Amino acid sequence: MRIDIITIFPDYLAPLGLSLVGKARESGLLDLRIHDLREWATDRHRTVDDTPYGGGAGMVMRPDVWGQAIDDVVSQGDMPPHLIVPTPAGHPFTQRTANDLAAEPWLIFACGRYEGIDARVVADARTRMRVSEVSIGDYVLNGGEVAALVVVEAVGRLLPGVVGNPESLTEESHGADGLLEYPVYTKPPSWRGMDVPDVLLSGHHARVARWRRDEALRLTARRRPDLLARLDPATLDDHDREV
Ligand code: ADE
Repeated sequence: MRIDIITIFPDYLAPLGLSLVGKARESGLLDLRIHDLREWATDRHRTVDDTPYGGGAGMVMRPDVWGQAIDDVVSQGDMPPHLIVPTPAGHPFTQRTANDLAAEPWLIFACGRYEGIDARVVADARTRMRVSEVSIGDYVLNGGEVAALVVVEAVGRLLPGVVGNPESLTEESHGADGLLEYPVYTKPPSWRGMDVPDVLLSGHHARVARWRRDEALRLTARRRPDLLARLDPATLDDHDREV
């Protein structure tokens, strides 16, 4: 997969050289390129923003600079990219979005700052490529960079070969069963007066699986009743309903 990120703060994306995403880049599974938006500014101050029409606080990012940046990055490839624009006004980013994006050959992130990017940039891009405006949550960050980090990590770990044991992708919160993940334990069996639940030491696979599912159901009901309500009733067995 190829990912390009356009930003006025390339250093913000430095963590993408670390951990699993960093390894995916080294091994060639992920071709990740970071671009400084100011390379496309045309004045000697390398200006990328201006005051908002209609008045109000803050600055808006200029469409001419963004338009040229996106055109140039797009022209470097030989396939249509999917443009991702992180914004608190976007569609909520979920595990499903991550799964969908992981199947794409090429993503370009346009990271806005200040009060955002002139609205014509997205409108213009939509005439030539798929565009998704995405929000990583109902709070406001200073710009799209941290959101791009979140999306790249959530998508990158789904690429075949990035996570060593692919089973760990299915047995996790927001995985295939739609539940939060059950609690996990390791050695020592007793720590600060707390014992690992007996069933996990029993070696009885079916009972371990039942206990984990019960715990996942209870946790999801307590913490995220909205997720439980969205489950397909056909995926629940009689025992589930008792929990
Ligand atoms: N930019 C600023 N806040 C954001 C958010 N919550 N999600 C995505 N991009 C953002």
